[in-house]
Amino acid sequence: MNDQELANLASEIAKKAYAPYSNFRVGAALITDSGNIYTGCNIENVSYPATVCAEDVAVVKAISEGETKIDILAVSCIDAIDEPIFPCGISRQRMAEFGVEDVIVVYKGDFKKYKFDEVLPFDNKIKFKD
Ligand code: THU
Repeated sequence: MNDQELANLASEIAKKAYAPYSNFRVGAALITDSGNIYTGCNIENVSYPATVCAEDVAVVKAISEGETKIDILAVSCIDAIDEPIFPCGISRQRMAEFGVEDVIVVYKGDFKKYKFDEVLPFDNKIKFKD
């Protein structure tokens, strides 16, 4: 699966999000070193801290199926947002644990690919690249 297809898959799975509180439907799709693909969407809760991010759902699905290494993860929000969504701190920490090397961020029908090292110390100043 190429980058465009992974980006498309992240957007497709976002349609399954349960996000009645934020109305931010987010999807994630990842590829492991064994070539398998896993997806996830955000699942919110009336108790907001119980919300699970799309990236986390995808990682949990992969690892619980016996995967140990994730190569690349794409994330996409399909609702109108002013800025692209980058994985939150907890998701980044979870992704780091399993060796994610590249992150694809989908925004307004376009996508950009980042090295995980660029995203990990993300300080809210990183820019959506040209
Ligand atoms: N969200 C994700 O699923 N992934 C991210 O990287 C950022 C935020 C979700 C959590 C919540 O359901 C909604 O987006 C708004 O923060």
